[in-house]
Amino acid sequence: MADWSRDLEKWVPRLIATWRKRKPQRRGPSLPENSLSPEEIREVGAGVKQLSHGLTRNRELAGARYMDDPKLLGAYLLFYWPVSYAQARSTLGELTSRPKAALDLGSGPGPVAFASLDAGAGTVVAADRSKPALELARTLATEAGEGIATREWSPEKPLPDGKFDLITMGHVVNELFNGAIEPRAALLEKILERVNPRGSLVVIEPALRDTSRALLQVRDVLVSRGYAVRAPCLWRGACPALIKESDWCHAERQWRMPKLVEDVARAAGLHKESLKMSYLVVAPKGETWAEPPSGAVFRIVSEALEGKGRQRFMGCGPEGRIGLAMQDKHENEKNRLFFKMSRGDVVRVTNTEERGDGRALTDQSTLEILASAGRPVGGGTA
Ligand SMILES: C[S@@+](CC[C@H](N)C(=O)[O-])C[C@H]1O[C@@H](n2cnc3c(N)ncnc32)[C@H](O)[C@@H]1O
Repeated sequence: MADWSRDLEKWVPRLIATWRKRKPQRRGPSLPENSLSPEEIREVGAGVKQLSHGLTRNRELAGARYMDDPKLLGAYLLFYWPVSYAQARSTLGELTSRPKAALDLGSGPGPVAFASLDAGAGTVVAADRSKPALELARTLATEAGEGIATREWSPEKPLPDGKFDLITMGHVVNELFNGAIEPRAALLEKILERVNPRGSLVVIEPALRDTSRALLQVRDVLVSRGYAVRAPCLWRGACPALIKESDWCHAERQWRMPKLVEDVARAAGLHKESLKMSYLVVAPKGETWAEPPSGAVFRIVSEALEGKGRQRFMGCGPEGRIGLAMQDKHENEKNRLFFKMSRGDVVRVTNTEERGDGRALTDQSTLEILASAGRPVGGGTA
């Protein structure tokens, strides 16, 4: 299980304490510091339901000022905050260098900013247009004894001063420019000018079909303008997941879900047993793509697709996005990890046979997991 789970557990009482301090004093027995009372769960669950509807179903809250509404900001803090923190830690786990200076744009109350700090960033600036969200980030920093700077920012305003080793944007790009791809790509280009050499721009988006496809379209514009993608793509051309309208590409990570999230998810009728997201790690202009490991290498981009007597996955690598299949009867000790692969793993196969839209592994094939989901892929820089 992820090694940042303990860090996240430490945040839970801070989130709850900060949320409670903002409420009128309640009478009654003292409340546990790590969990909410049934009444609190109902209250937060109702806010999360409203946020979830507005951000994922009808999307009427996307781009709206929901962070300025105390009830919705409180619901965000106790549910989406830990989810975004975990998504960010999992994504930052793919970076090979520790950032000194980090900037988090569209920070809200700072889950991604604090994830960067906990992952080893020296300093972080959290920037958003919502003053209440930034104030909450500062309160959390005090609660945690961590240092964080905050700035008001929106895309039409200048970026905070300076250059950064890491710039993060968690669940914000999909809220900008009414869905238009070109202005998003232009904004990311402007932001990439502020990324130091060997640094990264990390964009995390919801795993919805539309928001994921939009991120892939932005990726394609950046790739066509010469930017290198550090993760998750091993394929350097236009994204093959965009060919069919029904396809998209997203990540899924296992996590130890805090009880707080479990309680609120149940009340809001949501599921967060695993972390689903779309993400992109982009290098600043002038850097080349990392050389992939040698051989037939793929990132697994689907869940296991069970068939009769066989299993199939979609893999995406230097030769494109193809199916990888193996019949149960061909399992042996050289290839059995095929049945243990997860979405996001990077694997190498040998001795496969061309089959339909992809490759089949046989009892002559080998399969190696080169990097588990969320871990850096080895291989030199071109
Ligand atoms: C879904 S929240 C994400 C918060 C946090 N980054 C995370 O990953 O959980 C989206 C954030 O983007 C901010 N945002 C939306 N539109 C914005 C804009 N035009 N300018 C600046 N921030 C904006 C909102 O205020 C909100 O804090």
